[in-house]
Amino acid sequence: MPSGPPSPAERGPGGEAPLSAPTGKARLAILLSGRGSNMLALAREVREGVLQGLAEIAVVFSNIPEAAGLQAAAELGYATASVDSRGRKRAEFDADVVAKLEQFRPDYIVLAGYMRILSPTFIRAFAGRILNIHPADTHQHQGLHAYEWAWENRLPETKITVHLVDEGLDTGPVLAQAPVDLRGAETLEDVERRGLAVEHRFYADILARLIRGELPKTPAPATASQ
Ligand code: GRF
Repeated sequence: MPSGPPSPAERGPGGEAPLSAPTGKARLAILLSGRGSNMLALAREVREGVLQGLAEIAVVFSNIPEAAGLQAAAELGYATASVDSRGRKRAEFDADVVAKLEQFRPDYIVLAGYMRILSPTFIRAFAGRILNIHPADTHQHQGLHAYEWAWENRLPETKITVHLVDEGLDTGPVLAQAPVDLRGAETLEDVERRGLAVEHRFYADILARLIRGELPKTPAPATASQ
C-alpha cells in the first residue's frame, strides 16, 4: 500500500518516530554544506511565518564544520552540530551522522544545500521523513549547477522541486514543484536570484503542508534490499 511520510500526529508512542516535543511541534533537523540561505528562510518562517506553531528547529547540522550556514545558525541561537565528512567512507560517516542527529530527536530531516548523497544507512534511519529542495525539475536535471543549466539553455522557466530523498541523486518522489519565470533574465545571477526567491518561500510552504497532513500520499522512497 502506498504510504507517504507520516505526519507527527500519526506517530504515537511506539511508532517509528514518536512526536518528541511536548509542544506538539514537528522537530526539524536542517542539514547544509554551504551558505545556508534556505536554512535562514526556514528559520524565519518558524519564527514568524507559515511554520510558526507547527515546527521548531531541533538542530542545524553540517558535514563542513566551517560552513557559513552553520555559523549563521549558531549566531541566531540554534543548536548546531557537525561531523567532518572529509576523508570518510560514506556508510561510516553516515552512521556517525545518524547517531548525532538522533540525539536531537528530529521528526523531519530537511536538506538545504547538503552536498552529500545519502547512504542506505541514513535513508532507512529516517525513512520517508527526509526532504530536499532542488532548483530544477528533478525529472529533467539532477545534481549540481541547476541554475547554470537553466541559464545556459536559456530556459523561459525552471521548476523548483521539493522531494523526498532516496539513495539516488535527486531521484526521490516529488512532493511539489513551483515555477520560476526566467523570461528576460540577463545574467546567471539574475536566474539564481529569481530562483532563490521562490525557494525561500516554497520550501517552508510545502513543509507546513506536509506537517499538517495536507499533501497527497506519496510512495515512500525505495531503499536497497536489507
Ligand atoms: C539551493 O539552490 C538549493 O536548492 C540547492 O542548494 C542550494 C543551497 O543554497 N539544493 P543555500 O545554502 O540554501 O543558500
